[in-house]
Amino acid sequence: MSDDDKNAGKRRSQAWFGGTDKDAFLHRSWAKNNGLPDDAFDGRPVIGICNTFSELTPCNAHFRELVEHIKRGVIEAGGTPFEFPVFSCGETMLRPTAMLFRNLASMDVEEAIRGNPLDGVILMGGCDKTTPSLLMGAASCDIPAAVVSGGPMLNGRFRGRTLGSGTDVWKFSEEVRSGRMSEEDFMAAESGMSRSPGHCMTMGTASTMASMSEALGVTLAGNAAYPAVDARRNRLARLTGRRIVSMVEEDLRLSRVLTREAFENAIRVNGAIGGSTNAVIHLLAIAGRIGVDLDLTDWDRFGRDVPCLVNLMPSGEYLMEDFCYAGGLPAVMGKIRDLLHEDAFTISGRTMGEQLNAA
Ligand code: FES
Repeated sequence: MSDDDKNAGKRRSQAWFGGTDKDAFLHRSWAKNNGLPDDAFDGRPVIGICNTFSELTPCNAHFRELVEHIKRGVIEAGGTPFEFPVFSCGETMLRPTAMLFRNLASMDVEEAIRGNPLDGVILMGGCDKTTPSLLMGAASCDIPAAVVSGGPMLNGRFRGRTLGSGTDVWKFSEEVRSGRMSEEDFMAAESGMSRSPGHCMTMGTASTMASMSEALGVTLAGNAAYPAVDARRNRLARLTGRRIVSMVEEDLRLSRVLTREAFENAIRVNGAIGGSTNAVIHLLAIAGRIGVDLDLTDWDRFGRDVPCLVNLMPSGEYLMEDFCYAGGLPAVMGKIRDLLHEDAFTISGRTMGEQLNAA
């Protein structure tokens, strides 16, 4: 019997780690230099953790700590975790623009998943383009996958004022130009704006895509709004690590979650949160990768009658930390429940409606 025959019906990872031939020796032996014992290869789910950590992507620079919580969850549930890096598109430094590299990053994600012995994958996204690039790449592979977002920064603070990432940079810059703000104050405000780990805490693209991931059902409930430094973010990471192992056992692939109904839900939620228009570009790309027919007219059709319920900068007043304390995305989705497909399935193993009941 060939190795292919012997591995038929087994987990994907067993095509690398199963058996007693030369190739299995190679795959296991080299992996053992990570300190892995024999039972790491005994057929248990092998979970990739796709990490967009980079110090050049400050929004994701805390991921080395966050990933440890995911790994603990995977191990607790009986899986074997393998963390791996992919190209990280950071908004603040990458020139000429991170948008040019989103598709390149998605190819990196796709080939890293496809070419390695992974049964399921956790996608660690934060800064704007990292979340869509991860979801696009994973959607093309269609294996069990879940998103863990890095979470927003705490509210910025400067001399009694609340500062929003980006939003107040433009204001302050104009105030300096008009002589209403000194350069010393401008420099001091710089340190108050980004005062904790995490991504932009306005409802910019990062917060929007974290919200879209939750609305699509590819995260556990509460993912979008917990600040990066909130212990509930680490707890959610750990629970997602546990959950991905069960998802592999249930063969719960992305295509079961990323359905037409899920995208319609996300479009409606984007209207309710006043999300970034970049979500249009990213959701269309993700839909294309998973084979869901979605186009611009759907944004008009499903977004048209949705009331904007969330008052966050850049167009509104508050920030993601406030949004978290107000109940986060489950609270918003609960308010527009009659507009949502409650039977859309989520990575939690429950429908969106059941998830909202429990929120
Ligand atoms: Fe990274 Fe805004 S610069 S989320």
